[in-house]
Amino acid sequence: MTEHVTFVVNGVERTVTGSPDVPLLYVLRNDLGLMAAKFGCGMGLCGTCTVLLDGRPVHSCDTPLWAAAGKTVATLEGILDEPVGAALERGFLDHQALQCGYCTAGMMVTAAALLREKPNADEDAVRAALSRNLCRCGAHQRIVAAIRSAAQQLANSASAGNPAEDGQ
Ligand code: FES
Ligand code: FES
Repeated sequence: MTEHVTFVVNGVERTVTGSPDVPLLYVLRNDLGLMAAKFGCGMGLCGTCTVLLDGRPVHSCDTPLWAAAGKTVATLEGILDEPVGAALERGFLDHQALQCGYCTAGMMVTAAALLREKPNADEDAVRAALSRNLCRCGAHQRIVAAIRSAAQQLANSASAGNPAEDGQ
């Protein structure tokens, strides 16, 4: 069965045609060309396919297309344009928080959801948020440090009156 499914991806309304049961990850990568989210386990266990669905992290490998109908989806491509995405990118680079990089997009998307909600998230909150994201390279310590660094950047920006957003 084929259906038209409409949802907003990274701020742009998109309509795709396909089986409503196809994994959202396949649609994002194969139909919409958004390659940041990766296929890892395909079973909802590793988190490398994480995207935000109405702002909440989900594993897009086990989220069917129908579940996105009428909702908003954010992938790392869109999140990098936000202040939280820029702060995370800086944090990951500064802390060299990746080896192969396969888990990185999922980690950053999960972290973005956390920092949008709790810009000053402490280490315990970061570790709890990452409980569904695995790094096979064992870079977890540096990933946590990178996210804490991003939180610090956001806090500094807020205490400075956020001149970037004020256009000053
Ligand atoms: S590929 Fe989706 S959780 Fe592993
Ligand atoms: S950096 Fe290789 S899986 Fe995390």
